[in-house]
Amino acid sequence: MVNVAHTLENLHHESRSFRPHAAFAAHANATSYEYKKAGVDRLQYWREAALRLAWRQPFTEILDWSDAPVARWFHDGTLNACDNAVDRHVREGRGDRVAFHFVGEPGDTETLTYSDIHERVQKAANGLVALGLGKGDRVAIYLPQIPEAVVAMLACARIGAIHSVVFGGFSAESLRQRIDDAEAKLVITADGGNRRGAHLALKPLVDEALASHGEGTAHPEPCASVEHVLVVRRTGQETAWTEGRDVWWHDAVDPQPAEHEPEWVEAEHPLFILYTSGTTGTPKGLFHTTGGYLTGAAHTHRIVFDLKPDDVYWCTADVGWITGHSYIVYGPMINGATQVLYEGTPNTPHEGRWWEIVEQFKVTILYTAPTAIRTFMKWGEAIPQQFDLSSLRLLGSVGEPINPEAWMWYRRVIGGDRCPIVDTWWQTETGAIMISPLPGVTATKPGSAMTAMPGVCVDVVDDAGRPVPNGEGGYLVITEPWPSMLRGIWGNRHRYVSTYWNHFDGMYFAGDGAKKDVDGDLWLLGRVDDVMNVSGHRLTTTEIEHSLVAHPWVAEAAVVGASDEVTGQAVVAFVIVRGDAHGVPEDGDEVAAALREHVRHQIGSLAKPRTILVVSEVPKTRSGKIMRRLLRDVAEDRPTGDVTTLADPSVMDAIRTGLEAGTGD
Ligand code: PRX
Repeated sequence: MVNVAHTLENLHHESRSFRPHAAFAAHANATSYEYKKAGVDRLQYWREAALRLAWRQPFTEILDWSDAPVARWFHDGTLNACDNAVDRHVREGRGDRVAFHFVGEPGDTETLTYSDIHERVQKAANGLVALGLGKGDRVAIYLPQIPEAVVAMLACARIGAIHSVVFGGFSAESLRQRIDDAEAKLVITADGGNRRGAHLALKPLVDEALASHGEGTAHPEPCASVEHVLVVRRTGQETAWTEGRDVWWHDAVDPQPAEHEPEWVEAEHPLFILYTSGTTGTPKGLFHTTGGYLTGAAHTHRIVFDLKPDDVYWCTADVGWITGHSYIVYGPMINGATQVLYEGTPNTPHEGRWWEIVEQFKVTILYTAPTAIRTFMKWGEAIPQQFDLSSLRLLGSVGEPINPEAWMWYRRVIGGDRCPIVDTWWQTETGAIMISPLPGVTATKPGSAMTAMPGVCVDVVDDAGRPVPNGEGGYLVITEPWPSMLRGIWGNRHRYVSTYWNHFDGMYFAGDGAKKDVDGDLWLLGRVDDVMNVSGHRLTTTEIEHSLVAHPWVAEAAVVGASDEVTGQAVVAFVIVRGDAHGVPEDGDEVAAALREHVRHQIGSLAKPRTILVVSEVPKTRSGKIMRRLLRDVAEDRPTGDVTTLADPSVMDAIRTGLEAGTGD
């Protein structure tokens, strides 16, 4: 672990505080009674939250922690996630409510009610069964942000299959790793999607992922587990076809009957696997189960976003990330929300696209990431000001610490100084929001996620695991189990225990640094391990280093996350080129360009280093460990910190001199 002290120094004192407006507080879903109730009896609080779900067979036990740190919540109950998100609304007379206003990037739109989704999801469930899928089978989903992505996830849940959504920005190689690890039987994809006015192909990447990658590679054999590839026609691109394996969605799903009885599963039946970057370089398949996860997602969505029947809610995340799982698919749909689902980027075809969508659909609740807010700040407030944003009543932020300037801009320019902001801290692992203001209750400070949610116990501890006093910082931990906690890493209990539970006795270690201010409110300070947060996407230094050294030109690579005004952090790589490599361009820029493309191909565009610097050495300790702290100083153009532990202190001078001489990108 890294010492968090240096990050703490940068935190300025914040004296501004914004109380909820009385009019908002008067009608808010949550009052301070939530904290009181949870404080009196935490388990009873969660029991009541779970009872808001539709259970087929009611549960009698709330929490079984006897196999800690693997929790079992509500374990003797049975239910179905799709029944909760869809059927229940139809059954209770809400079928005509709009579930999604879908907006495609080229401008195509589609309105889908809960009844429409009900019909589609039953057909899709029958289609999956016809392809031989059943309870417990794993399905990889690699789709653009289109309604079929939501339908595919829910159809898996409906038959008890376990979905593993892989974000469309990942490469064929990353997709293959995830398919192999989960031993997926089916891949659901599309011919392509729309990105910045162009067609982005997806099916060819699936073909590449499933094929043999050749002798001597990590995948000498074709993928063994996948039996079928189910393909949605989205762009109409020409697509290579493997007879017997590939099937069109419109052939396999559309003709199916629209009646399907959900598979009633135990509360602890796995609902999905979601891969996140692991510190050892191979992604970890975190998995969540049904009853506890749905309780956490739906409950937090209702009280943090204050959802009312008339709201139009827009979460701008991709369904390929946990935010899309919990706050597009499961939480909001269980609560019967009307949502916007947008396929594209914020600046296609113009930089006001989001605000045009807010105006058009009268969006009332917007949930997005600080990196997007900072991008809009850069584009200038004149752009959002051209649109009517008066429908907005609540703003949310997630994915990385939000700097006070961005918070204030969000509040003033987008929220017209009237909308409460909820800065929500959580992780793929936590399944649902853990730290956040409650919008009608909490007086908020710009840049602070404020306090733990009712029923959630967090603390900030020092190296020895002792709680720090107010005014001090340390490591963020969660001290009691919670319903939506991950149940493990797919197929690897040992890695689950050692990653999260071995740092501090009996406490979940989040990997984040945090500070308690003088009032005890929480400020998140970013990761304290080698995880980087680039535009809210999680990457590790090791996986990018592995990718770089796999290139024949590279002898050694060291990667750091350097602060970046827009993306929060950016990937900066230091590489040493092999002396004996053939065909290496003289020009450092050309080397950098080729290596960036190599990383994109291996991991995906999201991992492409912003900067690659060709150097002759990297700084190491006497025991051979790379000193990333010093490289970060170079990447952020700061004077180099303490070099006394370096094996060869002159290395830093050599790097600086070399870069000044222009060998960098
Ligand atoms: O470092 C924290 C940061 O994002 C990490 C979790 O990433 P991921 O699992 O991809 O989930 C992102 C969406 C929930 C955390 O360890 N993070 C997330 N939200 C915040 C945050 N950092 C500060 N403030 C937040 N609101």
